[in-house]
Amino acid sequence: MRVLVTGGAGYVGSVSVEAFVAAGHDVIVLDDLSKGHRAAVDPAARLVEGSYGDPGFLRALLSDTPVEAVLHCAARSLVGESIVNPALYYRENVAGGVVLLEALREAGVRRLVFSSTAAVYGTPASVPIREDAVHAPINPYGETKRAFEGGLRWYAGAYGLRSVSLRYFNVAGASATNGEVHDPETHLIPNVLAAVEGRGEVTVFGTDYPTADGTCIRDYIHVEDLARAHLLALEATAPDDPRTAGAMPTPGADTGESASAIALNLGNGGGFSVREVLAAVEATTGRAVPHRVGPRRAGDPPVLVADASRARALLGWEPAHPDLEEIVASAWAWRRAHPGGYGA
Ligand code: UFG
Repeated sequence: MRVLVTGGAGYVGSVSVEAFVAAGHDVIVLDDLSKGHRAAVDPAARLVEGSYGDPGFLRALLSDTPVEAVLHCAARSLVGESIVNPALYYRENVAGGVVLLEALREAGVRRLVFSSTAAVYGTPASVPIREDAVHAPINPYGETKRAFEGGLRWYAGAYGLRSVSLRYFNVAGASATNGEVHDPETHLIPNVLAAVEGRGEVTVFGTDYPTADGTCIRDYIHVEDLARAHLLALEATAPDDPRTAGAMPTPGADTGESASAIALNLGNGGGFSVREVLAAVEATTGRAVPHRVGPRRAGDPPVLVADASRARALLGWEPAHPDLEEIVASAWAWRRAHPGGYGA
């Protein structure tokens, strides 16, 4: 089927496009290339440069090129930036998101997979985190993702939109062709690998957290496992699929979903501390990681680990690369093969 992927030139988007293409879908990538990379777009997909938040442009696109389903990956996604510039996050992630939903409604597109985040939970009371944990985002990034999820819920009931929101934990690793290149880069694994490459030292943000070694614990998931989950989620939005047909029991008031708007955590269910990530990088690369200890970074919860049992049960999803060293090795292999990133 024909699928529109917003943000398909970005990190998660580009690897998901690879998975969709491999599954035989006809993929249109919509990306304004403000963060994405032209070279990351699978050659079998068609790149349309533009914004999902531009109503006229979107209407014309959907009328010229009808699609059956959408993967909405495009968004602003930096926690720190969201705190200093919440207007940008509300404008793009919420207002822009509504423009997209309205264009889809007008065009009769009723299937959507949404890139959501563990940031919707804020600082959880306990881990592993289930989908029905309290949603209390501690930054505008998480709040705006939660707001869009809320829209999906109400659009499901009123307009018959079938959606799956995938709440990512810490995405890492690379496919053979696409890897992680952000500017600025804020994520741990690419920063540690850059340090290993001799590009300065990485700062460990805080060693006084209530964890065994004092550093934050995260649940790292391979980007290809995430991409496969997107494909399975897309299938779950099919008109005849009971998972989004309204037949599902509503598990609880706080799951953030209705029967046709499912939300699922995606993680491996195991946590690694920042120091353990440094050790995994040293084991994988055979090189020492130049690093220093710095103060805590604002807005970092001490421990985020997913309970992804619903994704496994509902989608039949099984991570193929849960091993941290394997995840790091794939990121390292991609960087070595692409020393200049995408060269853009
Ligand atoms: N960290 C460092 N040094 C760095 C970068 C990160 O010590 O140079 C630490 C962070 O403090 C954190 C851990 O490494 O403890 C992971 O940090 P990342 O920036 O890689 O990832 P986050 O856990 O902050 O972010 C992820 C997603 C966000 C999401 C957030 C939810 O990337 O999209 O989880 O809190 F919002």
